[in-house]
Amino acid sequence: MTRPIDGQTVDTDRGADREALRRALVGSGSLRPEWLAAFDAVRRDAFLPDVMWPHDMDTGRSRTVDRTRDPHAWQKYADSNCPIVTQWDDGAHRGTEPGRSFSSSSSMPGLVFSMLADLDVGEGHRVLEIGTGTGWNAGLLAHRVGPAGSVVTVDVDGAVASAGREALRRAGLAARVLHRDGFLGFPERAPYDRVIATCGLRTIPFAWVEQAAPGGVILVPWGTYYGPEEATARLVVAEDGRSASGPFTQAVGFMRMRAQRLVRRQHAAYVPPRAMDRADTSFTTLQAEDVAGFVMGLLVRDATHVADRERDGRRAVWLYGLSDTSWAVAVFREGCEEAKVHQAGPRRLWDEVEAAHEWWRAEGRPGFGRFGLTVVEGGRTAIWLDEPDRVL
Ligand SMILES: C[S@@+](CC[C@H](N)C(=O)[O-])C[C@H]1O[C@@H](n2cnc3c(N)ncnc32)[C@H](O)[C@@H]1O
Repeated sequence: MTRPIDGQTVDTDRGADREALRRALVGSGSLRPEWLAAFDAVRRDAFLPDVMWPHDMDTGRSRTVDRTRDPHAWQKYADSNCPIVTQWDDGAHRGTEPGRSFSSSSSMPGLVFSMLADLDVGEGHRVLEIGTGTGWNAGLLAHRVGPAGSVVTVDVDGAVASAGREALRRAGLAARVLHRDGFLGFPERAPYDRVIATCGLRTIPFAWVEQAAPGGVILVPWGTYYGPEEATARLVVAEDGRSASGPFTQAVGFMRMRAQRLVRRQHAAYVPPRAMDRADTSFTTLQAEDVAGFVMGLLVRDATHVADRERDGRRAVWLYGLSDTSWAVAVFREGCEEAKVHQAGPRRLWDEVEAAHEWWRAEGRPGFGRFGLTVVEGGRTAIWLDEPDRVL
């Protein structure tokens, strides 16, 4: 297909790529029939900047794609199922090379539509989105809720909010874009039938529960400080409005809400020189994989897990307490069935991990889908297994 892009005439093949993406998303089940009209009407490319950084999930690398230099590549990425970074380092980064850490993006279309399916949005709904980003998701929502509904979307970054607002205006989609901290929600337009966060949280604000209608749905990518793994919590607001509860529905990976990013622990503050000599020692038969991941983070609270890179067949896995300076390390050696453990401080973090793993095995090794979360007044969060009454 031939069409002009920014004054140049190029063969974009856009229709075929978009069609292939549509088919793939329908085939995978993420793009549901009720979202097809929005997919067709609200094009992702209308929300992407000229210079963008598609992100390769396998290598963890991003590459620069400049629409004015390579319109083919730009269009191909815009029509592909890949996440695209649109801002680095909270906007401090200059130039076209990738920056240090991404701070805004257009999420993978497959993830966007599977979350929208989870959200179960209908015509006439009032929706609050936290994390405007490019504005594409807000545009899809605005199309879906129609003139009888409304969409408010907020972003903590002023430049990102302005660009999203402008893209929505150009596309003729009615969504109100605000530059503010999404943790506060936006009470002025409450109650909302649906609240969706498109950044990851560690603590869900009770303000969102207060601003949602009874029976309303709150969909949040959520994780602990144990590690980077996350899953979406799909919470339904209780009829009395005093809590919201629901299961984890899918494993996801989002950039964190700004104030809730993982902070790298200062190793030396936990393990001063010669601390290893004074620590308790033992051996474990657990493997490094046994103590990593989302579910372990649900079971071992207030701790962070850091796995060193393997070097010469040796790999250390560290645990650091978040409320004190407790620490533990297990050193795994290739071919060895047991790993040596050192631990010190008020907590015995390795013993906690062993106990958590034992409990998890006895429960039949539940995956994240058997767990759920309840937020109650004051913002306290309870994690449960199978039923909201079975709080961990
Ligand atoms: C993955 S992007 C959102 C993608 C977006 N929904 C789209 O359709 O392109 C995450 C966004 O969350 C925003 N964010 C981070 N912390 C926030 C906060 N406290 N309140 C509101 N937005 C926040 C970031 O600035 C970023 O733009």
